Amino acid sequence: MVVDLKIFEGVKTPFYYYDKRLLEATLAEIERCISGHPVKVLYAIKANTNPEILRIVAAHGFGADCVSGNEVDAAIEAGFPAKYIYYAGVGKTDEEIARAIDHNIGCFNIESIEEIEIIAGIAAMKNKTANVALRINPHIDAHTHHYITTGLAENKFGIDITLLEKAVAAVTAHPSLRLIGLHFHIGSQITTMEPYRILCERINAITKQLAHNGIECKFINVGGGLGIDYDRPDANPIADFKGFFDTILGNLDVEPGQIVCCELGRSIVAQCGSLISKVVLVKKGLEREFVIIDAGMSDLIRPALYEAHHKIENISAAPTAEMATYDVVGPVCESADVFGKDEILPTTQRGDLIAIRSAGAYGETMASRYNMRDLPGTLLR
Ligand code: LLP
Repeated sequence: MVVDLKIFEGVKTPFYYYDKRLLEATLAEIERCISGHPVKVLYAIKANTNPEILRIVAAHGFGADCVSGNEVDAAIEAGFPAKYIYYAGVGKTDEEIARAIDHNIGCFNIESIEEIEIIAGIAAMKNKTANVALRINPHIDAHTHHYITTGLAENKFGIDITLLEKAVAAVTAHPSLRLIGLHFHIGSQITTMEPYRILCERINAITKQLAHNGIECKFINVGGGLGIDYDRPDANPIADFKGFFDTILGNLDVEPGQIVCCELGRSIVAQCGSLISKVVLVKKGLEREFVIIDAGMSDLIRPALYEAHHKIENISAAPTAEMATYDVVGPVCESADVFGKDEILPTTQRGDLIAIRSAGAYGETMASRYNMRDLPGTLLR
C-alpha cells in the first residue's frame, strides 16, 4: 500500500482508512462502462454504510439497494433519490414496509408469495400504490463460498422460478401494487463472467414467457456480486466492470425503453478500504511466532466467518527489513480470530502499523462489540 503514514498520525487504531481517490476512480470507471447504455447502478449499501461514502456514491447519481428500514433511512439521508431506492430482504417487517412506503421509495423487491399480500395490505391501508419487482431465484450456481451464494433452490432468497406465474398473478390482482420489474441476484464475490452469462440466458427465457402473457417489465435487475482481487489489490485496484457490463449488455435481451439495473456493493467499495491496526506485541510460541494486533474479528469478521484471506502488510517496516513468518491474530477470545497463518512479513515489532487490505466492503458494516470492544474508527482521505 502506498500511503504517507503522516495522515495516520494521532488516529486511534484500529480504524478503517478509505482512499477517496480510489473510490472516485472506481465510480468513474463504472460511469465510463455504462455511458450511453440503459443501465442504472444501484449501490448495495450493505457493503459499506459509512455516511461519507454514501454521500460520495449518491453524488454520482447512483441509486441504492437496501435491505432494512434503517438502510432505507440512511440512503435517504445521504441524498439517494427515493425513486432509485430499491428495498429487498426476505423478512421486511410491517413497520419497515410502512416507513419505506412513506418515503415513496422506487421499488420493493418481493422475495416470496406470502410477502405480496403483506405489502399490498399496507400500501392499500395508506391509499398508495407500491412499485414492486419479483425477485426470482433462478437456480444458478455462482461458484462462490456457500455462505454467499444465493441463487440455488436450497437458498432462502427469492421466489422459486417454478412459482413465477403464480406470483405474477398474485401481484396483478392487487390494485395497490404495480409490477415494474424482475430482480435476480445469484451470489457475491463472483470472479468469472460465466454465471452472469447463464443468468442472462435464463432471464431472457423468463421475460419472453412474460411478454407472451402480456406482462412487460420496465426494469430487469441482474443483482450484484462482481468479485474483486483480494490477493493483488495493488495490481487490480478496480474490478472488471467492463467484463461485467459487456457480459450483461451483450447477452441480455433488452427491449426499447427497458432499463437494466444492477446492485454492486463489494466491487465499488472493497479496494478503497484498509483496516489499519497496531501491533500490540510479537509473541514467540514454541513452534510459531504470533503478531498480535489491536484489530480483531469484531472489527473485520470476514476471515473468521468465511475463511476469507485479506492481504496483510506491515506498513511501518523499512523496505530493506528481513522477512519472517508469522501468524497474524487479533486479541478476541476465539480461536477463529486469525487474519493470516504463515504470513511472510518484514520483521515485525511492537508498535508497527499493519494494514489489512481490501476491507472496504463488509468490514465496517459487519463490525460488532464482541468482548465489549470499541467499534473501529474511520478515516477517509
Ligand atoms: N443484491 C443483493 C440482493 C444482495 O444480497 C447482495 C449481497 C448484493 C446485491 C451485493 O452483492 P456484492 O456486489 O456486494 O457482492 N458479507 C459477505 C457478502 C454478503 C453479500 C450479501 N448480499 C462477505 O463479506 O463476503
